[in-house]
Amino acid sequence: MKVAITVIAATLAMGDPLLAAPSAAVHMVPGVIPQPLRLSVETGSKGFAMPNGIKVHSDVSRCEMGRAAIRALMGAGLELRTEENEGELRVRQVKHDNKEWYAISVTPQGIELRVAGPQALFCAAQTLAQSVVQDEEGKPALPSMQVEDAPLLSYRGLMLDPCRHPLTVEETKKMLRIMARYKLNRLHWHLADDQGWRIEIKKYPRLTEVGSHRAETPTAANHEVGDASPTTPFYFTQEEIRSVVSYANSLGIIVIPEIEVPGHSSAAIAAYPELGNKDVPDYAPRVATTWGVLPYTYAPTEQTLGFLRDVFAEVCALFPRAEFVHIGGDEAPRDQWQKSPLARAFMQQRGMQHAGQIQHWFTHRMAELLAKHGRRIVGWDEIIDDGEAPAEAVVMYWRSWVRPSSLLRAVQAGHDVIQSPASHFYFNFSQGKLPADIRYRPHGSLEAQQDWRHVYSYNPVPQGITPEQRRHLIGLQANCWSESIADGAKLEYQVVPRICALAEVAWRPAELRRADEFLQRILKQYPWFDAQGINYRREDGTPARD
Ligand code: ACM
Repeated sequence: MKVAITVIAATLAMGDPLLAAPSAAVHMVPGVIPQPLRLSVETGSKGFAMPNGIKVHSDVSRCEMGRAAIRALMGAGLELRTEENEGELRVRQVKHDNKEWYAISVTPQGIELRVAGPQALFCAAQTLAQSVVQDEEGKPALPSMQVEDAPLLSYRGLMLDPCRHPLTVEETKKMLRIMARYKLNRLHWHLADDQGWRIEIKKYPRLTEVGSHRAETPTAANHEVGDASPTTPFYFTQEEIRSVVSYANSLGIIVIPEIEVPGHSSAAIAAYPELGNKDVPDYAPRVATTWGVLPYTYAPTEQTLGFLRDVFAEVCALFPRAEFVHIGGDEAPRDQWQKSPLARAFMQQRGMQHAGQIQHWFTHRMAELLAKHGRRIVGWDEIIDDGEAPAEAVVMYWRSWVRPSSLLRAVQAGHDVIQSPASHFYFNFSQGKLPADIRYRPHGSLEAQQDWRHVYSYNPVPQGITPEQRRHLIGLQANCWSESIADGAKLEYQVVPRICALAEVAWRPAELRRADEFLQRILKQYPWFDAQGINYRREDGTPARD
């Protein structure tokens, strides 16, 4: 990424006759999430009065993240001015190993930032935006403070699933705004599954003509019973995809698309039945109308590979900044391959001992195909079950119950890992047994009880791992599957404020975190949640808006 931040108001030496008026004394301490590594606030002294406004050097506004930072500051009430007598925002780029490292110094006269790059500038702006408090006259001000900060993990993500239930462009963008405030920087967008194909692919129009709607949906009251109501087609046009991707980029977020291979593919196979194992008995692919794991997998043929090559070419063009492309890989049943004469012949020709090796074959083909687009694959942790995955593959750890741990197996094999264990980071799971939790009927077990405290208790750096293995722990992510999430209000209830806990666990080492202190900072977020119209889960379990 080109860095265009070269602003140094070096001429602004101490004692310059700045006329910006200081605030009255500030006694409040900001409740920033995630808490910066080092934050010292001079309580009781004058701070930077927000009504002053700031002058910003034009270089900052020429850089995309600089503009994003300015928007974040304006959202927090800082006005941009051009007059000489205003406070000044000074930004200096410094060298640092961590691209997101930043430091802030706020004085009554202005704000000075030192940043390692554009992304760090955006992070600094989020910290400032959350640091606006009231001075003793009740006016908005930034306290005089010093901050130095950098994240523990570079990939901090949330996965959204518009396949089981639609999630509109606007609902997705609202979620992106929430993510950006807490410095999450990756949206993992699950765009194809058994119950729906949600991304327009120009070369294969039937994917959306056939794959974007289904005959019925399991009822909320009983997932075994369908509602007998056909869904309306729902998918994102390429223009809508570009709009979400560019909106995300403007908030410092990269969107990682996921297309499931080789399982969870019923919708694609319903659209193009020749891609499936069409020689198995009772072959009748259709867009799935039940939840769970379905038998339809891609057939291991050149035709399927050609299809995937074309689909991923369009996907890569739509997501130009995604360094990773997710190929799914979870829960791919072997039954059809075992029954298919064609798949069995394929295995025999290649000396394969068991059908799981067909998944292994797909994983390697996908890695080769995406490498030609300069991308690395990410796969759910099943990709290391049936033989060595390609060295550059990123493993997304989710099966927290499997022993030996796929997290440790992956790092021992030298894979980069993004952790999203179902034990802590499945935001579709229940948060408790309070009336709203029960009314919302979360998917998965009501026993899961993954409230924010549970999320917050996770340590993403397990004891006993070596420094080399630690290097492979690149990220943390929460997944929000949507079998039981039919609208944006419910999504927000499931995600907020757990997302705050996710953000802090990914940012701040476990030994520096204390849940009781964190609660105080969550409570300080409520006015922002309210201003954004978010249906967050209050501390007593009630939904804020619903
Ligand atoms: C998953 O929850 N099937 C990744």
